Amino acid sequence: MKQARSQKFSTKGCTALITGATAGLGAEFAKQLAPVAARLILVGRREERLGELSASLRQHHASLIVDPFVTDLSLPGERSRLASWIIREQIPINLLINNAGLGDLGTFDTAEWERIAPMLEVNVTALTHLTHLLLPMLRAQSPSGILNVSSVAGFYPLPEMAVYAATKAYVTSFSEALRMELAVEGIHVTALCPGPVPTEFFDVAGRNGETIRAMERTHPSLASTPELVVRQALRGLERDKPGVIPNPLLALLVRGSRLLPFPLIREAIRLGAGPKRPIRN
Ligand SMILES: NC(=O)c1ccc[n+]([C@@H]2O[C@H](COP(=O)([O-])OP(=O)(O)OC[C@H]3O[C@@H](n4cnc5c(N)ncnc54)[C@H](OP(=O)(O)O)[C@@H]3O)[C@@H](O)[C@H]2O)c1
Repeated sequence: MKQARSQKFSTKGCTALITGATAGLGAEFAKQLAPVAARLILVGRREERLGELSASLRQHHASLIVDPFVTDLSLPGERSRLASWIIREQIPINLLINNAGLGDLGTFDTAEWERIAPMLEVNVTALTHLTHLLLPMLRAQSPSGILNVSSVAGFYPLPEMAVYAATKAYVTSFSEALRMELAVEGIHVTALCPGPVPTEFFDVAGRNGETIRAMERTHPSLASTPELVVRQALRGLERDKPGVIPNPLLALLVRGSRLLPFPLIREAIRLGAGPKRPIRN
């Protein structure tokens, strides 16, 4: 199915829509794209933060157009409202960064459905729905790019992050297949698969407002800064990489682990991270 792509995608002069731009990686994408982009559409729920970021970007980049769009992506109608606005205003989006996402740390049997449902909706359904809604626009603006923010968690089944890891397995798989489908159309698709990054992610993922100090439990050599993750991601997209693991050691471990038989991986996960209970093979 795959054929040679005619033109490279470049972030220079791009019009990018970034979901989850109020914090963490999304805000960093906006900051790193601002000097080169023509226009940024920043999406998130927290209006004040979007306003502050937009004002700061406009102040530092006089020619940049910034559109904050306040919306809750877990609501299907809101996703349609966003796409309708883009189509009505004829905003020539040629870069979609599906970054918004959230986690929930703890066992599945103790999880609240009120936390699982929005996670599935934002991590999986919103990412898929927005891609579907905006594909005609991306096609019209080809060469264009789709950067889906997945996670290294998507490569493994992770006890105490069971649903989150499964949503990211979906994102990586979906991105790979979409990449093959869209190769001939000049739409470049890259899955970003970071390991731990110090953002608000773990505050949100911790239950009952409890901040999970996952970053403190992570070996520093496996973590990455938001600046580095975003720089590597944008470079990977421009180089048409199918996936980016923005930490060399983690990338090596992931690639090595994929050569191992799955029962070995399962045992390693059980010993390393899972709940201390037997897992039937
Ligand atoms: N940090 C890590 O260690 C890590 C590692 C691997 C992958 N990732 C992935 O990286 C992506 C960005 O996460 P982050 O680390 O930057 O976390 P973060 O600082 O918590 O940012 C998450 C962003 O998602 C947005 N969001 C969440 N629910 C939303 C909703 N219903 N509607 C609209 N926007 C929503 C939030 O905006 P509002 O709350 O304002 O709506 C926020 O801007 C996620 O997909 C995450 O899974 C993170």
